[in-house]
Amino acid sequence: MKETLPITRVAVIGAGIMGSGIAQLAATAGYETAVYDASPQQLSLARREIEASLGKLVSKGLVDRAAASRALGRLTECATLEAAAAGADLVVEAAAERLLVKQSILSESASVASPSALLATNTSQLSITAIASAVPGAADRVVGLHFFNPAALMRLVEVVAGLETSAATIAAARDFAESLGKETVVCLKDSPGFLTSRIAAIVRLEALRMLEEGVGTAADIDRALRLGLNFPIGPLELGDRNGHDTFLLILESMTDTLGERFRPTVGLRNLVAAGRLGRKSGRGIYAYDEHGKIVQAEQP
Ligand SMILES: NC(=O)c1ccc[n+]([C@@H]2O[C@H](COP(=O)([O-])OP(=O)(O)OC[C@H]3O[C@@H](n4cnc5c(N)ncnc54)[C@H](O)[C@@H]3O)[C@@H](O)[C@H]2O)c1
Repeated sequence: MKETLPITRVAVIGAGIMGSGIAQLAATAGYETAVYDASPQQLSLARREIEASLGKLVSKGLVDRAAASRALGRLTECATLEAAAAGADLVVEAAAERLLVKQSILSESASVASPSALLATNTSQLSITAIASAVPGAADRVVGLHFFNPAALMRLVEVVAGLETSAATIAAARDFAESLGKETVVCLKDSPGFLTSRIAAIVRLEALRMLEEGVGTAADIDRALRLGLNFPIGPLELGDRNGHDTFLLILESMTDTLGERFRPTVGLRNLVAAGRLGRKSGRGIYAYDEHGKIVQAEQP
């Protein structure tokens, strides 16, 4: 078993909802953090979102101002994947939830990162073993490092072992997550949806089915789960935060691996086809004002 290096340089590939949050966490914890996104607009948006998020944490007294400005100083946006991953001790892939995209990112990253780098993926449910098959000779260093949205605030990171992932890699992945102030669980068996997404998907899917059947309004379905079942946020509102396009990809993949109970609804397909992806596109199941407050619920 090869030893993994102590981590000083982190590369985050994909700077959307999750990648920007993961980069923020890594930079705040003291890691030199390089970020790349295939979309240059998204890359500059990510920096603005990290600045805004750190600003909020400062105003709530959760991060001090000097620490926030040091974090921003450790962040570098890179124009290419190679530039971001070169010499990295840890690569965290947080791009689109598609197997081929993740395989190609980790394979390209492995060729320029440190020879002992941890190669992590933030996939919500794809097989770590299948992703690792694209990096022959390094499958022992590939691991699931599954953050939750918003990454800066959610307490858990789920560490997922692929069939070939070494014990040293699992230990290093846990240490890294804990160095960001997170708690960890380990999904020992590479199984679709791991310990979390399998349940989360079923709950959100059932809420979408109820909405489409007209059982209640979106606002009442969300309120019912918040007030009656003690959910911190309603599943439909959470869907708007997490992105319906990503959820559709997750469900399509989980229908393949786990069966019909994960089949996406027609309403979800329509939302994505209409570009109503949630907060990231300004409109999803709910519409939002310029401050991000819900102004109305719309049926998909
Ligand atoms: N949104 C969530 O709540 C959530 C939670 C946990 C895990 N995840 C997982 O995290 C990953 C990212 O999800 P997200 O919500 O941040 O999606 P997102 O759509 O907000 O961001 C994905 C980003 O990846 C970029 N990208 C796509 N292909 C790329 C490539 N080849 N190279 C570099 N960048 C590329 C896109 O331009 C986009 O900015 C997915 O695997 C998703 O399943 C999402």
